[in-house]
Amino acid sequence: MTSISKVGVVGLGLMGSGIAEVCAKAGLDVVAVEYNESAVEAGLARVTSSVDRAVSRGKLDRSAADALLGRLTATTDYSALADRDIVIEAATENEQAKLSIFRALDEAVINPAAILASNTSSIPIARIAAATKRPDRVLGMHFFNPVPVQVLVELIPSLSTSAETLAVVEAFTTESLGKSFIHAQDRAGFVVNALLVPYLLSAVRMLDGGHATKEDIDQGMVQGCAHPMGPLTLLDLVGLDTVKSIADVLFTEYGEAQFTSPPLLSRMVEAGHTGRKSGKGFYDYT
Ligand code: 3HC
Repeated sequence: MTSISKVGVVGLGLMGSGIAEVCAKAGLDVVAVEYNESAVEAGLARVTSSVDRAVSRGKLDRSAADALLGRLTATTDYSALADRDIVIEAATENEQAKLSIFRALDEAVINPAAILASNTSSIPIARIAAATKRPDRVLGMHFFNPVPVQVLVELIPSLSTSAETLAVVEAFTTESLGKSFIHAQDRAGFVVNALLVPYLLSAVRMLDGGHATKEDIDQGMVQGCAHPMGPLTLLDLVGLDTVKSIADVLFTEYGEAQFTSPPLLSRMVEAGHTGRKSGKGFYDYT
């Protein structure tokens, strides 16, 4: 069975930087690709700050952190991915963007055994796989935020994914990355987001309807249900734009009212109040 030692990551945003960090921490050689130089720099800075945080929390010693960072390079050039054993795409949650990235990856990654994975949270893997000439070696590999901390990865084979591809990625997830996996069918939202997103949207509806304050909604779920953070704080962490995109895909797939985006969420995204990453969401981070 193919073993994976060379990893590519497309996108060094919130999720991609975490995926790159976890792969480099596992001792793997990682090449990340971003769309321009300033995105490369911002992505590397994101990884460095997360690794520094791990050091300051005593999770990693300084020399291991430096070695981790030494295993990660970032570029704007897709041809740097030619020899990768796996490339994990973690670009923006937009179908057209993902399809064009997969077309580009299909050209650039010339290793014949290479696997192409998408960290999409909602877009059908079958559709992404169909943009390539190797649909048997394409699957969904959905990580959770913050990637260095959350243990789970959802693995989503499409109808075309080979059993060998799934087996290689299962071994990679557990043995190399030290994470757990669950399998999910290739249905929008897979397992976790299909359950989580209606809950998050309900919290926004509750706030919009004046049922409770944002602080009380969050405190209710933290202290009443032992969630590590309340739903509105979690929306700020994940990104309101990301949650809205996922909700839109879920609504298109299932046509159910529980997946409609509440007007307050839409307005906040339109205003650029997308959460922690923009400095403002339900709470202020400036
Ligand atoms: N490497 C290793 N460990 C790290 C780290 C890193 N880079 N960064 C932080 N940590 C560790 C910390 O040392 C700490 O460990 P400790 O508890 O043993 O001290 C732990 O991670 C938590 O870090 P912090 O103390 O900085 O933060 P909090 O205790 O405030 O927890 C949180 C923050 C981990 C985000 C927690 O609130 C949480 O789990 N929230 C829920 C997040 C969640 O639900 N995520 C899923 C979102 S859905 C998703 O991602 C899917 C997508 O498609 C939308």
